[in-house]
Amino acid sequence: MADIFERLIKNYGPIGQHRERAHGYFAFPKLEGEIGSKMMFRGQEMIVWSLNNYLGLANHPEVRKADADASAKYGLALPMGARMMSGNSDLHEQLEAELASFENKEDAILMNYGYQGIMSAIDAICGRHDVVVYDAECHACIIDGLRMLPGHRFVYKHNDVEDCEKQLHRAQALIEKQQSGGILVITEGVFGMAGDQGKLKEVVALKSKVPFRMLVDDAHGFGTLGKTGAGAGEEQGCQDGIDLYFSTFAKSMASIGAFMAGPKTIIDYIRYNIRSQIFAKSLPMPYVVGNLKRLELLKTQPHLKENLWKNAIALQKGLKERGFDIGKTDSVVTPVYMKGGVEEAALMVMDLRENYKIFCSIVVYPVIPKGHIIYRLIPTAEHTQEEIDLTLKAFSETKAKLDAGDYKSEVIPDMANK
Ligand SMILES: Cc1ncc(COP(=O)(O)O)c(C=O)c1O
Repeated sequence: MADIFERLIKNYGPIGQHRERAHGYFAFPKLEGEIGSKMMFRGQEMIVWSLNNYLGLANHPEVRKADADASAKYGLALPMGARMMSGNSDLHEQLEAELASFENKEDAILMNYGYQGIMSAIDAICGRHDVVVYDAECHACIIDGLRMLPGHRFVYKHNDVEDCEKQLHRAQALIEKQQSGGILVITEGVFGMAGDQGKLKEVVALKSKVPFRMLVDDAHGFGTLGKTGAGAGEEQGCQDGIDLYFSTFAKSMASIGAFMAGPKTIIDYIRYNIRSQIFAKSLPMPYVVGNLKRLELLKTQPHLKENLWKNAIALQKGLKERGFDIGKTDSVVTPVYMKGGVEEAALMVMDLRENYKIFCSIVVYPVIPKGHIIYRLIPTAEHTQEEIDLTLKAFSETKAKLDAGDYKSEVIPDMANK
C-alpha cells in the first residue's frame, strides 16, 4: 500500500515544484508597511499593482477607525456561534438589508468567505435533477462548487452567447427527458484574469427562449461598475434579470466576507440550507461593522470610483499607445499579454522589482499555455499619474529586453528566502 504523504512529496505540483527557488519572492512574497500604491518588499519601496484595493478603502482613515473601534468594542470572539444557533446580531441583519437595497434586491445573506460561500450556495440551490450551464472561465470557487453538484452541468465557451444558448437547449432537452429539474446559469460580472465583463445582458435575454435562473459572481464589478457602483448588472442595465447577485468583500470593500442578494423567499431558503453558514461560526463583529463603514463610503464617496477609473484609463491607454496587447478588458482589471518562457518571465519580474521598483503579478504555464506570459495589473483609486508613468516606462524597457532575448535563461533564479 502506498503512503499518501510519500506521493505528495514526490511531486509538489505545478507551482510547488519551484518553491525552493521561488518561495518568498515569486510565490508567497511579503508586502509590508501601510497598504497603498507603494509598499515595502524585501526592504525596498515598490509601486504595487497587485492589490484588490480598487477604491483605496483598505487604508482609508474612517475605515481604519471603524475597524479599530469595533475590534476594541467587540473583540474577535463575538458572535459566539453560527448565525442560526447563537451567532445572529442586529448589525449582521443591518448589513444584509443595506446590501440588498444597494443591489436593488429584496434580501441578502452574508457569507464568511466568497469562495466557500458560493460553493455552498450552489450546493444549497441545486438538486440532482437540476442542470447548471456555466461559462468556461468561471472562477475556481464556482468550478469547485460544481464538483458537489449531484446533477448535470454544461459548460459554454467563454462569453459565447450562441454556445450558451446551445447548452441551454441541451439542458432543456435533458430536463424534459428526466421530467424533473430546472436550469441555473452561472457566470461572472467581470472575469478577473482577462478583465472582460460577462455578457450578462445577452445571457439574460436568452430567458425568453429557455427559462432559467441566473447567478452572477460580480467580485470585480461590485464597487467598480455601474452608476452607483452596484456592479456589472447595473452597468449593463440588466440587474433585474440577475436572479442571484453575489460578491465577495475581498476586492472593492478591501475586507473579508461576501454576500448573495436576491428574492426574499430564495434568500430565506438559502439562509436555512447553506451548509457553510449553518455549520460555521458567523462573521465576527469587527468585520460586520467594518463592512458597514466600507459600504457607506462606497455609496457616498463617488470620487473613489472616479479616481479608480481615471487611473485605469490612463494605465490602459498608456499601455495601448506603447503597443502592448491588453486584450479585451472593459473593466479596471488590466492584463498585459506577452510571449516567453517561465524562466524569462521570472527574470523580467525580477528586473522590474530590483531595478524599476515595480511590483506586479504574472501568470505563466501551467496556469496558461506554454510560451505565454500575462501580467495582471490592478489599478486603484490611490495610484498617482507619476506612478503610472514610471510603470509604463518600466514596461516599455523590460519588454524591449524580453524581445531582445536578454532574459533568456535555463533556470528560474534562486530568490527564495534563506
Ligand atoms: C470571482 C471571484 N469569486 C470569488 C472569490 C473568492 O472570494 P473570497 O476571497 O471572499 O473567498 C474571488 C477571489 O477573492 C473571486 O475573484
